[in-house]
Amino acid sequence: MIHIDSTRCIRCGLCARVCLVHCFHMVENAVTVRHEEYCLRCGQCTAVCPAGAVHLNGTDPDTLSPVQDFPAAESLAALIRGRRSIRAFKDESVPRETLLQALDIVRYAPTGKNLENVRWLVLEGRPALRRAADAMVNLFRSEKSMAALVAAHDRGEDPIFRGAPCAVFACAEGTYDLDIVNCSIAVAALDLLLPAMGLGACWAGYAMRAAALDERVRRAMDVDEKLRPMAGLMVGFPALRYRRIPERRALRVRFAHEEQA
Ligand SMILES: Cc1cc2nc3c(=O)[nH]c(=O)nc-3n(C[C@H](O)[C@H](O)[C@H](O)COP(=O)(O)O)c2cc1C
Repeated sequence: MIHIDSTRCIRCGLCARVCLVHCFHMVENAVTVRHEEYCLRCGQCTAVCPAGAVHLNGTDPDTLSPVQDFPAAESLAALIRGRRSIRAFKDESVPRETLLQALDIVRYAPTGKNLENVRWLVLEGRPALRRAADAMVNLFRSEKSMAALVAAHDRGEDPIFRGAPCAVFACAEGTYDLDIVNCSIAVAALDLLLPAMGLGACWAGYAMRAAALDERVRRAMDVDEKLRPMAGLMVGFPALRYRRIPERRALRVRFAHEEQA
C-alpha cells in the first residue's frame, strides 16, 4: 500500500519518474497514486523522495536505513579481479551466523519484477553433501565425459563439492521466465561478498546441472518440492592463498550506434 504524506510532499515528481509501473501521477500540482495493484513494492519511490513523503506498506520512510558511501572503484575492482574459485577448503565448518549474515545482505540484490522469489537451501556438513553428491554422480555414470569425475567420487574424493563443509543453492519459488537470472544474480553477489568476509566459494556447476535434470537428486538434496534449485556455491574457509591474477581474454566489445547525419 502506498501513502503519500501531503504535508511533506514537495510535488517534485521524482516518485513518478522512477516508478517502473507508473503508479504515480501529477494531477493539478499534486501527486496521486493510481493502479496500485501493479506496484512491485520495490521501494524506489520511498528511497528517492527528498521529503520522506512516500510510505510503502505502512513503513515510515524516516525509519529506513540511509544509503552509505560505496566502496571505491579500486576496492571493488580488486575484489572482482582477485577473487578465485576455491577448490580446497579447511576442515572447518562455516558458522551459521556468518552465512546468514551474508545471505541477509544478498536479499538486496535485484530481482526481475522485484519478485524477491529466491529461497536458499544450505547443505550443511559432509554427510548431507556426500548424500547429494552420490545421487549426482549416479546421474553422471552414463556420461562418457564424466568418467574421471565418477572415478574420483568412487575413490572417496569429492569432485562435486571439493571437500567444502557446506553448499548453498538459490532456489526459485513460483515460475517466472527469468528465475535463473534472479537466482544467478543472488549467487554472483554472494560469490563476491564471501571473500570479503574471509570465506571462499566456488560455483557448483555439476551440482546445479544434476539438480536441474533429476528429481532423485533434488530429493537427495532435500529440496522442498515447490522449489527449483537454480544456482549454487560450495562455501568454506579457503585452504590456499592465491598470489596472482591469471590472464583473461582481451575485452571484446562493439558499440552499436547510428551514424551521425
Ligand atoms: C556457472 C559456473 C559453474 C561452475 N561449476 C564449477 C564446478 O562444478 N566445479 C568447479 O570446481 N568449478 C566450477 N566453476 C568455476 C569455474 O571453473 C571458474 O569460475 C573458472 O574456471 C574461472 O576461474 P576463477 O573463478 O578462479 O576466476 C563454475 C563456474 C561457473 C560460473
